[in-house]
Amino acid sequence: MKQSNKKNTRRRFIKQNLLTGAGAMLGMHSALPSLAGEPSKGISATITATAPVSGQQSPQWPKWPMWDIAADEPSVLETLRSGVWSRAKIVEQFEAAWAETIGLKRCLTTVNGTNALICALANLDVGGGDEVIIPPYTFIATPQAVLQTGAMPVFVDTDPDTFQMDVSKIEEKITPRTRAILPVHIAGIPCDIEGIMKIARKHNLAVVEDACQAWLSEVNHKKVGAFGHAGCFSFQNSKNIPMGEGGAIVSDDEEFIDKCYSYHNYGIARGSMIAKYGAGMSMAGTKLRLTEYQAAIGLAQLKRLDAQTTIRADNAAYLKSRLETIPGIIPYKLHNYITRVSFHLFPFRYKKESFKGLPRAAFLKALSAEGVPCSSGYSTLNTQPFLANTFQSKNFKKMYSPQQLDIARYQERNRCPQNDILCNEEAVWFTQNILLGSRADMDYIVSAIEKIHKNAEKLKKSL
Ligand SMILES: Cc1ncc(COP(=O)(O)O)c(C=O)c1O
Repeated sequence: MKQSNKKNTRRRFIKQNLLTGAGAMLGMHSALPSLAGEPSKGISATITATAPVSGQQSPQWPKWPMWDIAADEPSVLETLRSGVWSRAKIVEQFEAAWAETIGLKRCLTTVNGTNALICALANLDVGGGDEVIIPPYTFIATPQAVLQTGAMPVFVDTDPDTFQMDVSKIEEKITPRTRAILPVHIAGIPCDIEGIMKIARKHNLAVVEDACQAWLSEVNHKKVGAFGHAGCFSFQNSKNIPMGEGGAIVSDDEEFIDKCYSYHNYGIARGSMIAKYGAGMSMAGTKLRLTEYQAAIGLAQLKRLDAQTTIRADNAAYLKSRLETIPGIIPYKLHNYITRVSFHLFPFRYKKESFKGLPRAAFLKALSAEGVPCSSGYSTLNTQPFLANTFQSKNFKKMYSPQQLDIARYQERNRCPQNDILCNEEAVWFTQNILLGSRADMDYIVSAIEKIHKNAEKLKKSL
């Protein structure tokens, strides 16, 4: 796939400008050994000896998070030197900017994405005795947020083509106890949120979007997080807009955000809640406030989010088009309704049948040895012990019948066979920083995988 010179120049310009001051980061070697063209050990010795990725050094992958001393530090230092560190006008400034970015009226920041989810669910009246429908292919925070409200997560299997919740399987999981759907746009790839909203409207269910990996992703040109009753985001360190820790809830429902605000500030009524509950300490609440210096970091990071999102998407499209030609490598599918993808992860399926039966773990080890950081991703959440142990807690025993807490019954009802295959056998990921590399870096990934494919038999024998 050739790019025009013009595009190449523009790309280099954007990249250079984005990375100004981050030279030290870009100069860092990956923690993984670079074996191309070097003496090698372990599993890749076999393939390096037979078919090295010819004459190439493994790339120096962009380090994350990025920090531009000249552009980022003045406002953060000013905030630090002001002595106003607790929530004030910089947090408000970030909230206004994030609401505008997503295209909604209001945003409330929180300490992290997990608590953004808990706050949103709790203030939509999700609680003990309720069920919340979620996908199993997600980060542990999604089901934990449901459990923290006192509700039970109900898992809907994954569509392995997209890595997202299989919308065609939602309705069979709805019961009289179902109160909400918590869809996740995993990897930053939008799920079928319009299909989910249709089902939610039909069954009168609340929808909280877990957009914790999907900043700027779009469905039909509308940002994800803006479809449900609430959208939740994470700004944790690994995220595409990092501030160490941080989260946000967005919504057009002013009363709902006032309620969330009050909850996030000890239950002290705010805005429309004053008329409803009276001024002062009139509501249930906790403390989830973001700090001024986190917001200042967030505002600095927000400036490069759009351009970096474009670079990730361009590289992902190119990498996908090349990887698709390798037998046994099946990247994510994008439906036509998806108009932008934030790519927190680049996921693909690995079919060992096309690699002479080489197990995924050995494939990952060989790819890492070639200097390409990769991972097998999530494990099967619906089978993890946190569920059984929470069901045995004092609160859950008070809220649910012994039959509802029967874990064998629960697990049978929550089986997700497609997701099991994805987690246990097939999924492979690259993280978002890899997608900020050069076009040559993407080519290197392809060459490394082609090399493993070519030498799969030898690798398998060496196990
Ligand atoms: C899909 C998903 N949901 C929720 C969260 C929770 O966000 P945080 O780590 O900010 O609490 C994350 C963060 O890793 C996530 O990836």
